[in-house]
Amino acid sequence: MKIFAISGSPNREGNTCTYGNHVIEAAKKNGAEVEEVNIYDFNITDVWENYFGDALFNKFEKAGSDDMPLLKDKMMSADIILLITPIYWCQMTGKMKTFVDRWTDTINLDFSSDLGGKGLALVSTHSGMNQMNSSNVLQTAMDNTAVFLGMTWLGGIDGASKMEITSGMNEGHEIIAKDFGAKLARGENLLGMKVVGGE
Ligand SMILES: Cc1cc2nc3c(=O)[nH]c(=O)nc-3n(C[C@H](O)[C@H](O)[C@H](O)COP(=O)(O)O)c2cc1C
Repeated sequence: MKIFAISGSPNREGNTCTYGNHVIEAAKKNGAEVEEVNIYDFNITDVWENYFGDALFNKFEKAGSDDMPLLKDKMMSADIILLITPIYWCQMTGKMKTFVDRWTDTINLDFSSDLGGKGLALVSTHSGMNQMNSSNVLQTAMDNTAVFLGMTWLGGIDGASKMEITSGMNEGHEIIAKDFGAKLARGENLLGMKVVGGE
């Protein structure tokens, strides 16, 4: 199984990368080939006026020489796209959102997407405060995004950061992350159902 793992945290040794690494290491241990990048290392042009219309006709001149063609190639060569992001104001980080906005680049005139058939999975971290923890909201948003793009939603896991008033992550989070990584390596969703790739 080929997994393209994209971290959307500016903190390279922070909560999100630490948690995401448990998933990635378990996936590798179970035979997956994982390519890892941090989205902050890439130049991604914001969408522009009439972008959706331009994208349908593959007109990307206004993007200049940004890194989206490279990122698209990496996505196209993977079976599973794994997004790893902290929750910033109830959403993914801004840079990660700009990247996802540009997935419109993959949509064709019949509204199919070149990402169709691939798996989509999510790892997110948050404050641990119930009122602010919107990982479930982001999971639903990405599930809906997967449906629109004809991708297969593999599920999302989340963990909390350690603060004065929150518990932080514990052994249980690590077990869930490692289990998810092993499942992704087998093309399984969070429930253990084989949904990506052949035998
Ligand atoms: C700009 C910003 C916005 C945040 N918004 C939220 C939020 O809406 N809900 C929440 O639970 N945590 C929020 N947090 C907390 C982070 O999601 C959390 O601390 C995360 O684990 C940080 O990951 P990192 O160590 O990779 O930076 C926010 C943090 C920042 C910096």
